Amino acid sequence: MLELSEINIREHPKVYNLYLSGPIDQPKLFTKNYIPEKKIYGERLYTYNGVEFREWDPHRSKLAAILVNNPNIEVIRKGDRYLYLGAASGTTVSHLSDILRRGIIFSIEFAERSIRQLIQNTAERKNVIPIFGDARFPAEYGKFVFSEVDVIYQDVAQPNQAEIAIKNCNYYLKEDGLLVLAIKSQSIDSISKSETVYKQEKQKLEDAGYFIEEDINIHKYAANHIVLIARKR
Ligand SMILES: C[S@@+](CC[C@H](N)C(=O)[O-])C[C@H]1O[C@@H](n2cnc3c(N)ncnc32)[C@H](O)[C@@H]1O
Repeated sequence: MLELSEINIREHPKVYNLYLSGPIDQPKLFTKNYIPEKKIYGERLYTYNGVEFREWDPHRSKLAAILVNNPNIEVIRKGDRYLYLGAASGTTVSHLSDILRRGIIFSIEFAERSIRQLIQNTAERKNVIPIFGDARFPAEYGKFVFSEVDVIYQDVAQPNQAEIAIKNCNYYLKEDGLLVLAIKSQSIDSISKSETVYKQEKQKLEDAGYFIEEDINIHKYAANHIVLIARKR
C-alpha cells in the first residue's frame, strides 16, 4: 500500500465523494475504497490520513475519462440511482459504487463470464445489483430494476447504440433524468468515418426528443469513442 501524503489529495470541486490530485486540467482521480484492501482490476491503493483510496484510471474507464476531461461536469450526485448498461466485470461500476454509497447501480451485463466476475467483484458492495440481461431487451429485466433511475449510463459495443439507449430511457429513466452514452464508432460502422457515425447517432437522439448537453471526445483515452450527455426535452 502506498502513502499519498506527498500528493496532496483534495475533494473534487463538483463531484461528491470524488477526489483528485495534481493540476485541475490533468488530475489523477481517486475514490474511497468501499471494501478496504480489496482491488477489483489491479488498481493502485493508497492511504491518506488513514483513509484508503483507489486510483481511477481514465484509460480503463470512460466515466473517469469524461471526468478528467471536464472537471465541471455533474454526472454523479449524492444518492443517485444508476442503470448501468454494459457493466463488464465491474471496473467502472466499482468506482461508482465507492462514490454513490447510498445510491444504487443496477448493473446489466450479457456475457456469462463477465457477469460471474461482476458478481464476485461486487458481492460485498451493497449498492450494486448485478443483473444478467441483454440491454437490447429492457423489458426483460424489469422485475430486477425496481425503481426509476436518475441516470442511464451505457457502454455497450453494439451496432445500434442510440436505439438501445432510447429504449432503456423509455422504460427506466425518470423525467428529467440524464443519459450518459459512450459511442464507439467502430462498433456501429467500421468503414465510415467516426465523425459521420457520431453525427448519425446524435441525430437519432435528437429525433427522439433528447437535448445533447455535452459531446465529449475521449479519443485520448479510448480510441474512436465519444461520450454524449443528453436529457429529454
Ligand atoms: C466496453 S465493455 C464495458 C466496460 C465497462 N463499462 C467498464 O468501464 O468497466 C462493454 C461490455 O458491454 C457488454 N455488452 C455488449 N452488448 C451488450 C448487451 N446487449 N447487453 C448487455 N451487455 C452488453 C459486453 O459484454 C462488455 O462486457
